[in-house]
Amino acid sequence: MASYPHTRLRRLRKNAFTRNLVAESRLTCADLIYPMFVLEGKNRRESVDSMPGIERLSIDLLIKEAEQLVALGIPAIALFPVTPIDLKTDCGSEAFNPDGLAQKAIRALKEFVPEIGVISDVALDPFTSHGQDGLLDDSGYVSNDSTCDVLVKQALSHAEAGADIVAPSDMMDGRIGRIRSALEQQGHQNTCIMAYSAKYASSYYGPFRDAVGSAANIQGGNKKSYQMDPANSDEALREIALDIEEGADMVMVKPGMPYLDIVQRCKQQFGVPTFAYQVSGEYAMHKAAFANGWLSEEEVILESLLAFKRAGADGILTYFAKQAAQLLQR
Ligand code: PBG
Repeated sequence: MASYPHTRLRRLRKNAFTRNLVAESRLTCADLIYPMFVLEGKNRRESVDSMPGIERLSIDLLIKEAEQLVALGIPAIALFPVTPIDLKTDCGSEAFNPDGLAQKAIRALKEFVPEIGVISDVALDPFTSHGQDGLLDDSGYVSNDSTCDVLVKQALSHAEAGADIVAPSDMMDGRIGRIRSALEQQGHQNTCIMAYSAKYASSYYGPFRDAVGSAANIQGGNKKSYQMDPANSDEALREIALDIEEGADMVMVKPGMPYLDIVQRCKQQFGVPTFAYQVSGEYAMHKAAFANGWLSEEEVILESLLAFKRAGADGILTYFAKQAAQLLQR
């Protein structure tokens, strides 16, 4: 390639129209998935202290909010129930109650706002008294295979309630295959699985645990015996390969911005629908900087999300979904 002065990369940057013509990545409303927290009761909304602008909503208000999201062009929401404390047990059996909060919310959404895609979280942490994502054995270790038995029941109950996509976020080995077989056998051939394939044992999840009320009680204080070590990336590719082989339709990397290298490797190696989760801690730290006037809110939100698209993500789960869609619609 001829160098300066024949090549001046600044030529195409001079005008907005050429910048637009040559842009390699684009962020649209269709890329955004909005995580939402649902509460028991009627006409109830609660703010989440560590996540300014995010609320827990009762089902009636969730429906109203979902209608607004459809109008904004947001294709899907990821649903997280806030389980009343008296329903939490060691074995988390509220997770597969056909009339549990998540199942009721899924049914209501599919009845009243059928246009919005509903992604349900499959994991036991909102339902266990110890706050871990699975069942504990006598030594306090999260046991894999017995947890999978419960996850299968949970995923089936979500599919029966009408979930479009079930999203196992528990990181047990073999759960995608077990859930896929059960869905096939029970007549839910078209229920998609979005696997949290490369989910790291991250400290960026703190505000989420406040939001669903699982923070105080995580036994042992962490999830390192099942979520991935932040030091690893080859291992993420092995996790993703297994989930695809076991029947995942879409895969996910989580957290988001600190793990864009994993998103890129995943998309390059497998070429499958790849999603990334800009998690609660990423949202909280952005919001804190905006509140202090240290970063410019609108520009930074859009830049942070565009970075996911550049890395190869097909879509982003983000607490900024609504705000970003409003900005994109302007
Ligand atoms: C639980 C789950 C977590 C998140 C999504 N599903 C927390 C955890 O693993 O402790 C975190 C999301 C966020 O931080 O925004 N299975």
